[in-house]
Amino acid sequence: MKEIKKILICGGGMMGKGIAQIFSQRKDLEIIIYDKFPVDVYEGIRINLTQLKNAGVISEAEIEDSLSRIKFTQNINSEEVKSADLVVECVLEILEMKQDLFAELESIVAKDTIFCTNTSVMSPTEISKKLKYKNRLVGTHFWNPAYLIPLVEVVKSDYSDDEIVQQVHELLLSVGKKSVICKKDVPGFIANRMQHALWREAIYIVEQGIADAKTVDDAVKYSFGLRLPQLAPLENADMVGTDLTYNIHDYVLKNLCSSQEPSSLLKELKEMGKLGFKSGEGFQKWTDEEIKTSKEELVKYLIKMIYKK
Ligand SMILES: NC(=O)c1ccc[n+]([C@@H]2O[C@H](COP(=O)([O-])OP(=O)(O)OC[C@H]3O[C@@H](n4cnc5c(N)ncnc54)[C@H](O)[C@@H]3O)[C@@H](O)[C@H]2O)c1
Repeated sequence: MKEIKKILICGGGMMGKGIAQIFSQRKDLEIIIYDKFPVDVYEGIRINLTQLKNAGVISEAEIEDSLSRIKFTQNINSEEVKSADLVVECVLEILEMKQDLFAELESIVAKDTIFCTNTSVMSPTEISKKLKYKNRLVGTHFWNPAYLIPLVEVVKSDYSDDEIVQQVHELLLSVGKKSVICKKDVPGFIANRMQHALWREAIYIVEQGIADAKTVDDAVKYSFGLRLPQLAPLENADMVGTDLTYNIHDYVLKNLCSSQEPSSLLKELKEMGKLGFKSGEGFQKWTDEEIKTSKEELVKYLIKMIYKK
């Protein structure tokens, strides 16, 4: 089994910074961020760490300690890149870019360096297409904000070595992540399949005039959404009984949205430039103040849920 001492993060954007921050908690790891462009990775990571300090999760000294373990380079041929034991790729969601980057890295790093891709939706099997040693690549799907959301889905490609999957899983557990293994390379992996089944139905309810967007969100927040972190779907199905669950599905499923395409309402909003927070209007209207509050409240909520602070 390969000893992991140096972790290379490719792409110092939002996810890359968050993931570097996660690994920087471990004093025995060195983190190198490689980006093609000049990015101030330290500023973003410091902002995240300061949120944790302000909530009483970490100390000022721990901020400096974490940052001291992170290096940045724009040189893919540098010694830091060459000596990486494990790579987490976080560049743009463009298949060819990911494939080419891994192919280039394969010519630079050691034969047994482990490759992880943080793709949101793409197939790790396809991402490994240009590699000679495809067995060394797995998906590691972190969730945004990566330094707060515990889940990481470790996704097996058609070629991934079981031993590498297990090693990546254990590495993630060692930095406090809730790592789960997705045994098949399927679109949406595990959690996004469920998340988007819910979003499809939420949009459908609005589209059908059953309720407006705010009401749909409230119906989730004040019912099953509230208990989800404690009682997830399959435990809930067991709690109420598989017989009752069967009867409910037998009656209701045929009435739910089963569209294979994005909804026409969603398409219309996109085409009208109603892009949500980005434009101040999507399914609902948003003021700058509401947008700021929404983002701040999410971080506060996550810190409270995860760190009990
Ligand atoms: N944003 C999310 O919520 C989220 C969640 C899970 C997974 N992801 C995935 O993570 C990846 C990164 O997303 P992000 O939101 O951090 O994007 P981002 O745009 O914030 O960051 C991408 C970074 O990659 C750099 N880059 C671009 N081309 C490069 C190259 N050829 N070599 C090296 N660096 C390069 C850019 O300069 C930028 O700093 C994407 O695949 C995305 O789908 C995103």
